[in-house]
Amino acid sequence: MDSKILVANFKMHKTNAELKTYFRQFPRLGRKYPHTVVFCPPFTSLDFVSRKLKAPCQLGAQDIHSYEAGAYTGGVSAAMLTQFGVQYVIVGHRERRIFNQEGNKIINAKIKTALAHGLKVILCVGEDQAAHADKETASVLTTQINTALKGVTTPEKVLIAYEPIWAIGTGRSATAAEITRAVRIIKQLCPCQILYGGSVTPANVARILALPDLAGVLVGGASLDPHQFAQICQGGTPQ
Ligand code: PGA
Repeated sequence: MDSKILVANFKMHKTNAELKTYFRQFPRLGRKYPHTVVFCPPFTSLDFVSRKLKAPCQLGAQDIHSYEAGAYTGGVSAAMLTQFGVQYVIVGHRERRIFNQEGNKIINAKIKTALAHGLKVILCVGEDQAAHADKETASVLTTQINTALKGVTTPEKVLIAYEPIWAIGTGRSATAAEITRAVRIIKQLCPCQILYGGSVTPANVARILALPDLAGVLVGGASLDPHQFAQICQGGTPQ
């Protein structure tokens, strides 16, 4: 298998005490490990996790503010992230689009700020159930990607995570045909590497990573268990 990118998105889970246990149980991947593993803990644990990680594990954040600094209560700037060695940032996750009313314009501003600070961006896109048909999926992805990448001069530094909304946290991952269709659409829109996210588990990761033109996976629920995420990082379990 080529070198892949495996991203753990802990969302609003885990205190430092819980992460201490987690990293005690998560195996050392060693120098010969061919893939990149990115841990995205909550902001409050970036410092703690940064001190736990050794190559090939890297640190990611779950969000970023579009402005450099200012009176934005609760905001976290790019410089605040990079001080802990953050290398990746997730932008436009479905939960931020829905619960924080983030639209493609603010997402575009966040991407530009992140790239200006040397961060690699993981831009999440995906259709909801209502648009779960060929033409509609293409139209949703086209709008999301074109708006989010408008004026971005280095789109190759952006990874697109295809996360169909109906697959996130539902236990129902997209089929190979659905992922392949989305990959084909995304490849026509930008030169970005492509990840898949949505109910990735040790049982389905091997089949997903085997799909052509897929650079890796973004994992939510299954990344919370160090044993399950370790299995995912080892390419999953044969079923
Ligand atoms: P899930 O979440 O793996 O729990 O479906 C994926 C995500 O939200 O990025």
